[in-house]
Amino acid sequence: MLILGIDTSCDDTAAGVLRGPREVLSNEVATQFDLHAAFGGVVPEIASRAHTERITRVIERAVEKAGITLRDLDAIAVTNRPGLVGALIVGVSAAKSLALTLGIPLVGVHHIEAHCTAALAEHPDLAFPFLALVASGGHTALYDCRSPLEIEVVGQTIDDAAGECFDKVAVMLDLPQPGGPSVSKLAEGGNPKAVRFPRARVKSDPLAFSFSGVKTSVLYHLKGPGGRRDAPDRDDLETTYADVAASFEQAVVDALVTRSLAAVEAKGYADLVVGGGVAANQRLRADLAAKAPAGVHVRFPSMGLCADNGAMIALRGAQLLAADITSELDLDVSATGEPGALL
Ligand code: KG4
Ligand code: ZN
Repeated sequence: MLILGIDTSCDDTAAGVLRGPREVLSNEVATQFDLHAAFGGVVPEIASRAHTERITRVIERAVEKAGITLRDLDAIAVTNRPGLVGALIVGVSAAKSLALTLGIPLVGVHHIEAHCTAALAEHPDLAFPFLALVASGGHTALYDCRSPLEIEVVGQTIDDAAGECFDKVAVMLDLPQPGGPSVSKLAEGGNPKAVRFPRARVKSDPLAFSFSGVKTSVLYHLKGPGGRRDAPDRDDLETTYADVAASFEQAVVDALVTRSLAAVEAKGYADLVVGGGVAANQRLRADLAAKAPAGVHVRFPSMGLCADNGAMIALRGAQLLAADITSELDLDVSATGEPGALL
């Protein structure tokens, strides 16, 4: 079965082709970093317009690279929740047109469920149940993935997402967006123990995350005691920017590692799956692999399947289609929505 997956939930225009149930044939992404750079964050209207301009070419490229034609497709999977509404509408409209024209099924996919299950494509022995950590620019949460149709949140951030925190700290350190890769690169030359940034715990919920404290601590560290520096000044700082980047990165990674390992142990599962853009972080990968107890396998998707992409949407679509779940041509989009709930 050949499935085209489309994702336009935020600022990446993405399409990929999957030979079901797990073989990725292509995975094309057009990023928009340059368009949003001047605004310090994703501007929804600009994202929607850019998706409109690019979606057709990205789908064409995905189909070409898979070595097939549109007529070979058996189904279209598309992210319809959660995300920026105007951005989602572009992908969903393209998916509907294709499904209608080709006379094939359409299936709406939950973006986070797709991140949870993306690692299945590259780990043939991975099977439900497993625990998933999804850390991206918009989400940071732990999911109990009991079966393809039972994916439930067991702990989540009460404030910022981990990736969002990397992006904001990048602004403080004068680094380009997206912040994750640029902060990590700078951190390579720094001492992760130079500054002890807080590892906030949420008293009422041992599996919850909180990242706003570490972000604020970085700002105060850069401003100096009593906030005496109006603007961060590199020359007047006791630690280098690389030390700050490394110490910040370590604080975020420690929080992700401790909660993920606590959750997988509490469930008694043998597999911890990691997904979302932050899963590309090398320190997270190294620390999780080193600290996982015997009997727990940590499964990372390759870089192209970590960040937003179309192949993971096709893969999740394949799981839903296998359970006879399809969507009608009046499929709606939603900015929110918990995993597990069918729209
Ligand atoms: O999953 P994703 O592509 O899009 C969302 O759904 O948000 O994740 C993007 C996020 C950004 O915040 C980016 O800074 C972060 O993932 N990211 C990283 C790394 N690469 C990307 N964060 C930490 N370390 C990285 N190497
Ligand atoms: Zn995502």
